[in-house]
Amino acid sequence: MPMETDTQRVTAKAKEIAAKEQERLLERTGASGELFKRAVKSLPMGVASTFQAADPYPIYLDRGLGSHVWDVDGTEYLDFHSGFGVNVVGHAHPKIVEAIERAARTGTHFAVTTEVTVALAEEICRRFGLDQLRFVNSGTEATMDAIRVARAATGRDIILKIEGSYHGHHDDVLFSVVPEAEVLGIRYNTGVDGGPGVDDFYMTVPTSKGVPANTAENTLIVPFNNQKALERALGQVGEDVAALIMEPVMMNIGIVIPRPGYLERVRELCSQHGVVLIFDEVKSGATIASGGAIERFGVQPDLACFAKAIGGGTTIGAFGGRADVMEVITRGAAQQGTFNGNPLSCRAGLVALTEVLTPDAYEHLGKLGTMLAEGCRRALEEGGIPAHSVDLGAKGCVSYRPEPLRNYRDFLDCNTDLFAASWPWMVNRGIFMTPGDEEQWTISVQHSEQDVQAYVDAFGEFCAELNA
Ligand SMILES: Cc1ncc(COP(=O)(O)O)c(C=O)c1O
Repeated sequence: MPMETDTQRVTAKAKEIAAKEQERLLERTGASGELFKRAVKSLPMGVASTFQAADPYPIYLDRGLGSHVWDVDGTEYLDFHSGFGVNVVGHAHPKIVEAIERAARTGTHFAVTTEVTVALAEEICRRFGLDQLRFVNSGTEATMDAIRVARAATGRDIILKIEGSYHGHHDDVLFSVVPEAEVLGIRYNTGVDGGPGVDDFYMTVPTSKGVPANTAENTLIVPFNNQKALERALGQVGEDVAALIMEPVMMNIGIVIPRPGYLERVRELCSQHGVVLIFDEVKSGATIASGGAIERFGVQPDLACFAKAIGGGTTIGAFGGRADVMEVITRGAAQQGTFNGNPLSCRAGLVALTEVLTPDAYEHLGKLGTMLAEGCRRALEEGGIPAHSVDLGAKGCVSYRPEPLRNYRDFLDCNTDLFAASWPWMVNRGIFMTPGDEEQWTISVQHSEQDVQAYVDAFGEFCAELNA
């Protein structure tokens, strides 16, 4: 581990790099600046989703092909952002293009279930070991409906959520997503890592304005990777808890791998207390393995939520699991939507899951991911940078903390100055990346070893520059 003085030195250097690279970025992206001036008149913050906003303006993209994207200035990048993890098939994959063209020729929407919709349901059930599923149109809808089904099935209202997890933007889950360090202390301590436990819940911290204050009463927060805290929480309120919703591997604070035995214990505790265990696989599903985290970590939830990569680049979401839980949909639990199971998305999703994301494809993604993470690791080591890299299939990241993260509170130790310098550095060198340190890269089947090497080279230069 580097000496504190080394950390201070690279942090000071990172601030210099960030300022210089940000200036260069603005010089190179004049057309984005112009489009922002226009966009901000019709779209708050000039974007379609707040996650797309940036200061002073975002880079607007024009098109993508294979592993590449082009911005509105015509600048070409290698795409490691991949639409927040949607594009594991890459851009304009010929098989996906054909599927979408076919849907365009034969009808893009009926609001009537088609055979293709059934076939995609079958494939998702097969991959993830689900009995049944229902389609929706986003990850948000998937977690919202899964929670409703869990409440209907149990007749209970409370949900448990993990501190630092994002499950979309509906009211129930907009708590303790990225709580600021100052507000963390209040309604806890769960005794993380064997420390003294006073109260068994973390503070339920609102993430958004506009959520009714009393919603917080039904959303209780527990830490990731801490089975004791969950045990105590369920010991106190278990019989009122409908569901525990969690990412089996946390992917909205970099990547946090579950400790050995943690998910198994979570599974046991939920069964013991009659709590529906919901895995949010919106990010991990179809990216970290064919069967997502369920396959990778070998623990089966009662319900699981999907979106992003399962649609082959189109708008989609789904949730499903045990037939005896899903059955409440036939007995009054509302689950509906005009676009659910839309034939365009389902055709693209079916081709993605059955013809593009094959076992060979996962091998390719895993190989490239490890090559990328190891390349970054070497660069970090050579530069003595206080950070580490992690990879899981198509996903991976560098987190600016020497040791791996165990939970959200570890994420608060990450050096944000180092990330703030790395992002414009990489973008200015043709590597398009997600703009936040909570995100990760996503590799597509259309990425090559050369693409990965280009990332590693640019990152190596960054680490060297931190020491220059
Ligand atoms: C784990 C997780 N769940 C749910 C969502 C919400 O998905 P969507 O943006 O499609 O509503 C996201 C989005 O990033 C996510 O990362």
